[in-house]
Amino acid sequence: MTIFDQLESEVQSYARSFPVTFDKAQGAKLYDTEGKEYIDFLAGAGTLNYGHNNPVLKEALIEYLQADGIAHGLDMHTRAKEELLTAFDECILKPRNLEYLLQFTGPTGTNAVEAAMKIARKVKGRSEIIAFTNGFHGCSLGALAATGNRHHRGGSGGVSLPDVTHM
Ligand SMILES: Cc1ncc(COP(=O)(O)O)c(C=O)c1O
Repeated sequence: MTIFDQLESEVQSYARSFPVTFDKAQGAKLYDTEGKEYIDFLAGAGTLNYGHNNPVLKEALIEYLQADGIAHGLDMHTRAKEELLTAFDECILKPRNLEYLLQFTGPTGTNAVEAAMKIARKVKGRSEIIAFTNGFHGCSLGALAATGNRHHRGGSGGVSLPDVTHM
């Protein structure tokens, strides 16, 4: 019995389809503990567009940690956030004459979906959301409510997932 079988909860998804232990990653490739190579078509569900351990990003990250950069600042103003906002303004917003504000949600896709649902409900003053078949939006209660996949909705443990009409 592996340590995963012994200690990890049943709340697992991709691990069920890939019963190996991954050890290293570089670019588009993953390597298991036996050294077997895999092309990572999953790519962090779209979050690894620059590949695993991209050398440019890796160097910047190591430099940031070596300089004792702030890894957790709640929503306080940090130099890292200042630099990100400045670069985003200069590279994305200004060249397109876009006037947007940025919201720093939690780090997951589900956090972004939750924020979008809250903003839409608040701005419109209505609660009902329409969701379409086969959509997957994450595993928080709000995102699950709008998720088409019954398997994932079943993970809510019978808690009601209201105010969403499925079409
Ligand atoms: C389309 C889509 N929305 C939302 C999510 C949820 O993202 P996360 O797992 O980071 O919460 C995913 C994750 O696979 C996704 O593919």
